[in-house]
Amino acid sequence: MSSSLVPGPRFMYGTAWKDQQTKDLTLMALKAGCRAIDTANQRKHYFEAGVGEALCEAYETNLVRREDLFLQTKFTYQRGQDHRLPYDPTKPIDVQVEQSFASSLEHLRTDLIDSYVLHGPASGYGLSADDHIVWRTMESLHKRNCVRFIGLSNVSLAQLKGFYEFASVKPSFVQNRCYASTKWDYDIRQFCRDNNITYQGFSLLTANIEYLGHPAVKALAEAKHCTIAQLVFRFSQLVGMLPLTGTTNAKHLASDLNAATIDLEEGDLHLMENIAWLA
Ligand SMILES: NC(=O)c1ccc[n+]([C@@H]2O[C@H](COP(=O)([O-])OP(=O)(O)OC[C@H]3O[C@@H](n4cnc5c(N)ncnc54)[C@H](OP(=O)(O)O)[C@@H]3O)[C@@H](O)[C@H]2O)c1
Repeated sequence: MSSSLVPGPRFMYGTAWKDQQTKDLTLMALKAGCRAIDTANQRKHYFEAGVGEALCEAYETNLVRREDLFLQTKFTYQRGQDHRLPYDPTKPIDVQVEQSFASSLEHLRTDLIDSYVLHGPASGYGLSADDHIVWRTMESLHKRNCVRFIGLSNVSLAQLKGFYEFASVKPSFVQNRCYASTKWDYDIRQFCRDNNITYQGFSLLTANIEYLGHPAVKALAEAKHCTIAQLVFRFSQLVGMLPLTGTTNAKHLASDLNAATIDLEEGDLHLMENIAWLA
């Protein structure tokens, strides 16, 4: 599957850390042309119901229709949550997934989620029995036509391979923090490319600040008449990623979306892929 299944500009708008501004900023993104929205049922970092309020207003004002949008949300284990849980933590883990999912449908005012993502495995290493149950429950949501695609976030290559082998419904998306120091998650991106999984990269700017001021990066941006942020986003698209931007600034968002017009040659991509090793 390619990221072209995700409609609109080749970006996903991220709604983390927006709290009471979530509705207004989601509307800003929809007005700018974003059609893929990422959220999570994790009140600690996201206000999923605020995304739903924006969607409601966007439908009422004929800005978009539900079928124009790609809505992605996540199941988050209790260890990633604060006290505002979208499920009863005393229930078995499969019931927690079902409860979290039902609450997401309510928040997002829909009966279909385009992509449902496991926010992260139960621990940083390996897969647990709970991870397997969560994945089977997500598969069941897919089989019941409540979810079009299922995916993973914050996974190592070993964990991704573990899920992939175990899965009867294969992951369609991986969403990871993307560090230039790992050649922009090179090994995972290769596995995704080989297995029809769309790689979604986040923190492309904030995780890589130490490298983005390098004179060679600045010179390339100048030669391409673009900003460094645009350069990073365009590079990410051309190497097959679906980038996330969660900007709160309308000008930044317009400029991010415009990055799609920038031409980069093979040599430019090679330079960007290797910026962590520039002298
Ligand atoms: N799965 C996970 O665990 C996970 C974790 C983190 C994030 N995410 C997802 O990824 C989304 C994006 O998060 P992120 O970590 O990539 O960072 P982000 O929230 O997009 O933050 C980017 C930062 O860079 C600044 N910036 C400056 N110029 C920019 C430009 N041209 N475009 C965009 N930002 C610019 C922004 O400031 P301005 O606001 O002033 O532009 C902001 O402070 C989140 O909203 C969430 O949906 C997922």
